[in-house]
Amino acid sequence: MGKTIAIANQKGGVGKTTTAINLSASLAVNKKRVLLIDADPQANATSGLGVDSKQLTASIYECLVDDYPLHSAAVHTCVERLDIIGSRIDLVGAELELVAKADRENVLRRLVDDVKAQYDYILIDCSPSLGLITVNALTAADSVIIPVQAEYFALEGISKLLNTVRIIKGKLNPALQIEGFLLTMYDARLRLANQIYEELKNHFGDMVFNTVIPRNIRLSEAPSHGLPAILYDPNSRGATSHNQLARELAARARAKKETA
Ligand SMILES: Nc1ncnc2c1ncn2[C@@H]1O[C@H](COP(=O)(O)OP(=O)(O)OP(=O)(O)O)[C@@H](O)[C@H]1O
Ligand SMILES: [Mg+2]
Repeated sequence: MGKTIAIANQKGGVGKTTTAINLSASLAVNKKRVLLIDADPQANATSGLGVDSKQLTASIYECLVDDYPLHSAAVHTCVERLDIIGSRIDLVGAELELVAKADRENVLRRLVDDVKAQYDYILIDCSPSLGLITVNALTAADSVIIPVQAEYFALEGISKLLNTVRIIKGKLNPALQIEGFLLTMYDARLRLANQIYEELKNHFGDMVFNTVIPRNIRLSEAPSHGLPAILYDPNSRGATSHNQLARELAARARAKKETA
């Protein structure tokens, strides 16, 4: 049964999509069957993996609004074993259309349940909002990865996100876990970046991934070529750090199993 992980932070531009694309690709290269769901109308994960939104028979919009099955909407990407449910700008309208649906917070969970057996991991790239689509993503998820940019005000807004996670845990998805906080765009030369890592560690302890994602130009270039970093420049620090993250994720799952 696949594990479903939402990648969320309502703060914009912190590295959610970069993490979604590159972690998905690294898991797939490590022989896992992966489905990436692009749950953001900006559709950056879709284009960043070289998929043309206009060519899609169905996007996440049709899945959420018309109950189109995920297995029919999924398309293969340039990475073997990595499929994607693409997004389009029309997803903006789904926020409103979902409101009218019965059991509106559980729409994505029901869709995901139908494909869980076909994948080892299902990752969901959330938009920078805590609207109904993100609530659906967190309700469908087993856990959430929270990317945190190594910048001033990095921790701003995290309490709001954690509060949302608490509410969803209480009302909609009691099993929801925080998979981890991931420091992104880290520049080891900057004292500030180190301070933010320490601050994260002080607040959240073991919930912070040991892997940090460095600021790396290849990570920002690769999407314009429609490729994850691991195909665009496999030896770049951007690619190797995401590979390390994929391994840390698997190691944590093993450790959890042993202590359970
Ligand atoms: N580690 C990194 N090194 C260099 N550039 C990065 C890195 N991570 C992200 N970027 C760049 O920073 C910008 C924002 O990243 P990204 O799109 O992943 O953030 P996001 O949280 O998904 O944004 P949004 O909230 O708009 O969805 C992009 O231009 C991306 O290429
Ligand atoms: Mg994004």
